[in-house]
Amino acid sequence: MSIIFYSSDDNSELAVHAIKNALAEYEVTTWPAAHPEKIRYAITWGAPEGFFNDLTGLEAIFSWGAGVDHLFNNPELPDVPVYRLEDAGMADKIADYVLYSVMSWQRNFKMYISQQAKMVWQPQKERSSADYHIGIMGMGVIGSRIAERLATSGYSVSGWKRTPGTATAITLFSGLEQLDEFLQSLDTLVCILPLTKETRQIINQRVFNSIPKGTQFINVGRGEHVVESDLLEALDNGQVSDAVLDVCVTEPLPLEHFLWKHPKVTITPHIAGPTQEMLSAEEVAKGIRVLSIGGTPDGLVDRVKGY
Ligand code: GLV
Repeated sequence: MSIIFYSSDDNSELAVHAIKNALAEYEVTTWPAAHPEKIRYAITWGAPEGFFNDLTGLEAIFSWGAGVDHLFNNPELPDVPVYRLEDAGMADKIADYVLYSVMSWQRNFKMYISQQAKMVWQPQKERSSADYHIGIMGMGVIGSRIAERLATSGYSVSGWKRTPGTATAITLFSGLEQLDEFLQSLDTLVCILPLTKETRQIINQRVFNSIPKGTQFINVGRGEHVVESDLLEALDNGQVSDAVLDVCVTEPLPLEHFLWKHPKVTITPHIAGPTQEMLSAEEVAKGIRVLSIGGTPDGLVDRVKGY
């Protein structure tokens, strides 16, 4: 019985090492496997064409990441259960990224950087955190952690989910019918939705026209959540005052893309929640052990919902 690992990211060697350590009782192989028929579990991110072809004994697939859009976009995905990383250290990292982005905007750091370049000593007016309202689209494991972190830092936080959720300490809106109400009082909008056919391009002109003028926008979900031409319009007409984008429709962002040089945009190269090999390997190993005794691990993906 063995396990196959493939990641299109750079750190495969570290990952294989971590997986071998965490699952010492299994043979762990990389792609292409010498004996594909012996493979029971695949752990993968961005599997190449043909990856699943000869895995005739495959019982489950583990996404080497929180998102599973890379799997559901693959027309060769076999009909076996798919599990995704639910946290593996990513939730805290993404919460750090969002808190930093909000604070540096709310406390005028971008402005002070440009003032320093001109040697200007000029304190700026600052909004109090309690009056500063952040809305999080996507209230799964990671979205909820972001919300908690921001609330603990004194911000006023609410969340939006596509489908109704159970009550939490955070004010929760759900469904398209409550989207406008959720958007109308925000100072910062954060996207951490899963990418599904329902959420693709959900952040479009309608959303940008519903937020108050001058809202900050942070995207730590997927680039495809956003209609980039609508974002450009919102940046230029002042609906969005600052955009912090960890993800873009095309990654790496093409050199000629307007986002690189827009003065209101900060781009980071999809690093908000970097894969932490040891923690990810431990989460997958726990899942495989639960499966091997007939249980259902956490992180089971609903194929109909797509997350
Ligand atoms: C990163 O984007 C992930 O889905 O883990």
